[in-house]
Amino acid sequence: ALLPSLATVLAYLIGSLSFAVIVSRAFGLSDPRTYGSGNPGATNVLRSGSKKAAAVTLLLDALKGFVPVVLVKYAGPQFGLEEGTLALVAIAAFLGHLFPVFFQFKGGKGVATALGVLLGISGWLGLLVLLTWLAVAVISRYSSLSALIASIAAPVYYVLLDGSLWSAEKPLLAAIIAMSALLLWRHAQNIGRLLKGQESKIGSKKDKAA
Ligand code: G3P
Repeated sequence: ALLPSLATVLAYLIGSLSFAVIVSRAFGLSDPRTYGSGNPGATNVLRSGSKKAAAVTLLLDALKGFVPVVLVKYAGPQFGLEEGTLALVAIAAFLGHLFPVFFQFKGGKGVATALGVLLGISGWLGLLVLLTWLAVAVISRYSSLSALIASIAAPVYYVLLDGSLWSAEKPLLAAIIAMSALLLWRHAQNIGRLLKGQESKIGSKKDKAA
């Protein structure tokens, strides 16, 4: 099938735009892969000291997940694209962020992009996941811990909202579970730091980049 493959490849290419690197370059900041956690993501861009660059990174990394999903969700049916393609496009945009073809396949951890994908799949789902992230962030001040808890919650929320865990086809649930599992795996170092009490907190002065 040409169209589903084309949509999937395009979503992967869009996901491959590592906005932490692109935005930092545009703002004249150091490459986020060279300081802090070394991760090309909004959390690490914040360690540059520029809240604006971090916010723009967060927005664009989320949009690159949101836009492909919403396009396929609303325009897809007219072209015969079904839930299976939606699930593929969702995973492809996310994988683009983790393994960007334009950046030697060395990408980020996928938090912002997953949020965009989830918002595209369902506004309520995305909102619940965002609120979960925010609640943990406000309480703990750990960006990574917030992402870990929000991503474990995501498939649970999807099933609760959808109310049909046992229905026949569940490509979207499979995509959401896969995304969450990959996201947890990408946070292996963060989990290690959290366990040792060495993870940096949001807004912490000591890890501002030089
Ligand atoms: O967005 C990724 C976040 O959960 C952790 O980022 O830079 O602290 O590893 P970082």
